[in-house]
Amino acid sequence: MAELNFQGFGGIHIAGSAFGSPEDPPVLLLPPSGQTKEFWYGSAAALANAGRYAICIDMRGHGDSGHSPEGNYDLESYSADLQVVLAGLPSRAFVVAAGLGALIAIQAIGDGAPNLVSGMALMDANIWVDQAVAKRMGDSMRSRISSFSDPEKVVAAIAAAYPAEPRPELTERILSAYKRGADGSLVWRGDARVLSSDRDMSDMEKSLTDAASKIATPVTLIRGSLNETVTGETVLRLQSLIKGAEVAEVEGAGHYAAIDREDAFNSILLDFLERKAPRQPLQYISGSEPRILRDALGCFGTGVTIVTTIDDEGNPLGLTANSFTSVSLDPPLVLFSLAKSSANLATFEKVGRFAINVLHIGQQPAAWRFTQRDVDRFEGVDWAVHEEGGSPILAGSLASFDCSTHAIHDGGDHLIFVGKVNHAWFEPHRDPLLYFRGRFQRLHFA
Ligand SMILES: Cc1cc2nc3c(=O)[nH]c(=O)nc-3n(C[C@H](O)[C@H](O)[C@H](O)COP(=O)(O)O)c2cc1C
Repeated sequence: MAELNFQGFGGIHIAGSAFGSPEDPPVLLLPPSGQTKEFWYGSAAALANAGRYAICIDMRGHGDSGHSPEGNYDLESYSADLQVVLAGLPSRAFVVAAGLGALIAIQAIGDGAPNLVSGMALMDANIWVDQAVAKRMGDSMRSRISSFSDPEKVVAAIAAAYPAEPRPELTERILSAYKRGADGSLVWRGDARVLSSDRDMSDMEKSLTDAASKIATPVTLIRGSLNETVTGETVLRLQSLIKGAEVAEVEGAGHYAAIDREDAFNSILLDFLERKAPRQPLQYISGSEPRILRDALGCFGTGVTIVTTIDDEGNPLGLTANSFTSVSLDPPLVLFSLAKSSANLATFEKVGRFAINVLHIGQQPAAWRFTQRDVDRFEGVDWAVHEEGGSPILAGSLASFDCSTHAIHDGGDHLIFVGKVNHAWFEPHRDPLLYFRGRFQRLHFA
């Protein structure tokens, strides 16, 4: 298992634990309300065995994740965190979520991020919670603010929300949401404001219904067959909103079926994954989500460059680019493509010159810096213009090509800049910085 750190909405720290190889397709797991990432460790281990990269996260205010300074623990904040975390993963994840986690997933994916996931398995997702149940759940959450003298009492407090169901089996995973206080008592690990905040289900109902009806990814809705609060009818009602959703039951379990009947739950999950988000080669077909094309293109390993130029006032500018390609030896031509959305587009078009700086392995921090918007990218960078009409050359690069712009072609959402090489400097006895499958890579050739 590896500890991971993510940033959620507004930069809040989101703690994660990963199982399996990062090279495998990612699965992101969200626990139910009041629980922490350990809740999913059993399923995560099974997923890793089945060739998936399973990442369990703590929601804001829970476990090891950061606390919201303003106490923002509403559905919107949780779902904004999920969207940011998913967008930052190197490829589209499958989401597994339970209880409140499942509602967060519905909100995040239905509302504005339909293409961020390859599918979802949602356990105990219920949009239409009746008032008496909501009150019991609120009371149960509030009762967990106090400390507990023994683990059985923790389970009793959780079970109080679901009096007609089998009591959750006492497992370490449920207790992971608690730490031992100095006097040996068990105290919930997280921001107490999470437990005390009342969730207004009627407000959430509308936005969740809207979001659910916009979900266009494979979904399975799973419930424990003895779950009294998430009834078979409510699951069917949700199924009717989500196009193509499947329904599955874990026999003989209420809430917490995912850990009380872990093998049964995992087999439903793995079967669905293999059918709907198989590990076989992915396909991009014209018109598919561009993110899939990006993943496909990411299989072509490249070097990494920083392309620079200088404006009429002598200010250097530049960005990290891996679209650099050699074009012709005679005349000596190279190209790179620049996104039409680039803040630097107008200057590159106007000044008629640019330099390509090919980076070596030690220049990875610069490669990262030259993708950031709100920083002075050249601060601390040793650069110089070496000749009349030249562009900034970064000291110590593996190779630098000083070019005058030869042609600019339209290239869809990019412009293709072809440059005539006027001068090149190179020092081949260093290892290149590489970019492959959406990540910087270091390979040593020496
Ligand atoms: C490895 C890597 C390669 C990139 N290649 C390109 C590229 O070829 N063309 C491009 O326009 N942006 C590319 N980008 C993104 C830009 O670096 C980034 O979006 C840009 O710096 C945004 O700032 P700007 O608006 O100042 O251009 C790349 C980013 C990374 C991390």
